[in-house]
Amino acid sequence: MAKIENYNFFINQLKKLGFVFPSSQIYGGLANSYDYGHFGVLLAKNIESFWADFFVTSNPNAFFIDSKILLNPKVWNSSGHLDNFTDLLVENKINKKRYRVDYLFEKAFPDVEFEKLSMSEVQEYLSRIENFENSKAKWNIPKKFNLLFQTYQGVVENEKTPLYLRPETAQGIFINFKTLLRTTKNSLPLIIAQVGKSFRNEISPGNFIFRTREFTQMELEIFTKPEEAELVFQSQIEKIKRFLLKLGFSEKSIRLNYHKSEKLAHYAKSTVDFDYNFNFGWGELIGISNRGDYDLKNHAKKSGENLEFVDSATGYKCFPYIIEPSMGLDRLMLAVLEESFRFDQQKNRYFLQFPFVLSPYKVAVLPLLKKFSFLAEKIWKNLIKHKIYAAISNSGSIGKRYYYHDSIGTYFCITIDEQTNEDQSVTIRFRDTTKQQRIKIGEIIEFIKENSCND
Ligand code: GAP
Repeated sequence: MAKIENYNFFINQLKKLGFVFPSSQIYGGLANSYDYGHFGVLLAKNIESFWADFFVTSNPNAFFIDSKILLNPKVWNSSGHLDNFTDLLVENKINKKRYRVDYLFEKAFPDVEFEKLSMSEVQEYLSRIENFENSKAKWNIPKKFNLLFQTYQGVVENEKTPLYLRPETAQGIFINFKTLLRTTKNSLPLIIAQVGKSFRNEISPGNFIFRTREFTQMELEIFTKPEEAELVFQSQIEKIKRFLLKLGFSEKSIRLNYHKSEKLAHYAKSTVDFDYNFNFGWGELIGISNRGDYDLKNHAKKSGENLEFVDSATGYKCFPYIIEPSMGLDRLMLAVLEESFRFDQQKNRYFLQFPFVLSPYKVAVLPLLKKFSFLAEKIWKNLIKHKIYAAISNSGSIGKRYYYHDSIGTYFCITIDEQTNEDQSVTIRFRDTTKQQRIKIGEIIEFIKENSCND
């Protein structure tokens, strides 16, 4: 979609309507931290459950897990996060602002691959940046900065064990591989899905909810025979594309971004990102990695557990390769919101053009007069009974009520008026076109099903 012209207005709308607002507001907020209100929660839940249906419950090889945020700290040693989960950080001595070196290079020397440079070469390049973001610049020596959040377990001072908040949900899956294999299907391919909070002490969070220190991930770990891994990797690219199109993304607003070998994470053999054309520019939305046997081999070596797959019928043995489609729920929600945001000049209204599955309210029931409240409640109850989440809006002019429900993305509005008493009919209005149609009360459920299923 075209970029949002007035991005501040868009953010303010999301705050005003109760989708997303700054966290800890009464204490002045907490930098780059946001809470979700009713509509933000519903939108996130809808995205998550669409993901779960698309990737997990519709696949006989896929299963869920819910592992802990706090794990034995040895996990992060074996996974390589304690040593390698770092960004290169540099400070501008003039204004004390800190930056990721890759970010500085992206802005100042977009054609230079800084990962290939020695530290003295990096410093030499940095010394050429004499002004940055409206300030004079003088750089200190870049340092590696570990992104793991540390905390402590235990009550006795000096006897507390340092623990880490997980930076990805994936490791909770790898360390349980044997149990998951035994308790599910005991064969490959095996797909394990997890949704949960992850934490990273990001050096430069920002761009609203794009990069935050606390966020929700939805990850799939696909355990496969090494010789089949490349095929699975390719098929996931296709599958994720279908997923994004179903969520309402246009082909033009997404692109594939293959990582060069020097940019790969410490665990990855190959990675491709689906980028989205956010208002601030292209940014990673979803990553698909071939993690090879890095994780299982390291955990096997360091824990002493045998984490190989063995086919008892044939004797076939391997450390499975892992293909990992991983996405951030908050980031996906931001992209969905940007992609759906519309201004209808003719009718002077804003609306969120969510597909039906994502709309927080599928339907709003609007009685024109107070005397229709009883009937409105009856219609509303029937919608809820059929698992169609709906609202009743009683107050304000009908125009204002339509305006409000368009702005939160409600898919249909049903209006009860004088004619309803006469012939048991209501008007049903489509959010996107504002077209209205009269239908009988008894036809509402069927009508909604028929007019939303292909969307
Ligand atoms: N297990 C692999 C992994 O965590 P990643 O590329 O570091 O890979 C996967 O993260 C996804 O998680 C990203 O594509 C992004 O959607 C989301 N993500 C990562 N860091 C984030 C952050 N600081 N804030 C919001 N989302 C983030």
